[in-house]
Amino acid sequence: MKEFILRAQKAWTTEFDITDLPNAGRIDLVSRCISSAVFLSNDMRRDTIIHVVLEGPKDPPKIISFNGAELKDFYFDEKNIAKIILKALEAGKGLKMGEVIDAHPGVKISKNSFEQLVKEKTKTSKVYYLHEEGKDIRELDFKNSKFENNVTFVFGDYTGVPKNTEKFLENNGAEKINIGPLMLFASHCIVVVHNELDRN
Ligand SMILES: C[S@@+](CC[C@H](N)C(=O)[O-])C[C@H]1O[C@@H](n2cnc3c(N)ncnc32)[C@H](O)[C@@H]1O
Repeated sequence: MKEFILRAQKAWTTEFDITDLPNAGRIDLVSRCISSAVFLSNDMRRDTIIHVVLEGPKDPPKIISFNGAELKDFYFDEKNIAKIILKALEAGKGLKMGEVIDAHPGVKISKNSFEQLVKEKTKTSKVYYLHEEGKDIRELDFKNSKFENNVTFVFGDYTGVPKNTEKFLENNGAEKINIGPLMLFASHCIVVVHNELDRN
């Protein structure tokens, strides 16, 4: 299984204006990441899950997870994905810490922290985090891992990965990797990572 964890530090956790996604803490960026993670041109990536950790106002944190194998009535454009995010936020109103519920076919929402999610993933998956100073992704041997094909990639939104988050990730065994010489948009990073794994 391939998993992505986007830490969206400003993305709203309560109702937002569907016609103004950038001012909802960059839900446009979050939606593009979801689209890049689970869609192919004419198909879905059924081996992929993306978790978006929303940490903006007014009820953080909320984690919405999209499973490519189970998604139904789900379209690739930003506005339709943002509508599903709204639906999940509505379903997740009043969740208590640690609770998780189904919000739509293939979509779950939980009230959980970024740190808790990463710790959980390290038990079953090799965790990498994307950083321009990391090891070149082309030098990694994905096949030779104790977790076989389970890989998780953590990355930041337009605000990047905070220093204390980097420290947390390293303390929990995540490896810092670089995917190319230029700083890319978060949604582009997902496409590049997928492509590297597709070629393996
Ligand atoms: C739009 S970038 C963040 C830009 C932010 N202003 C900064 O300086 O960190 C979003 C995320 O994509 C990842 N990223 C972008 N380009 C990358 C690269 N060439 N190698 C590794 N990670 C990259 C990093 O995780 C980064 O936090």
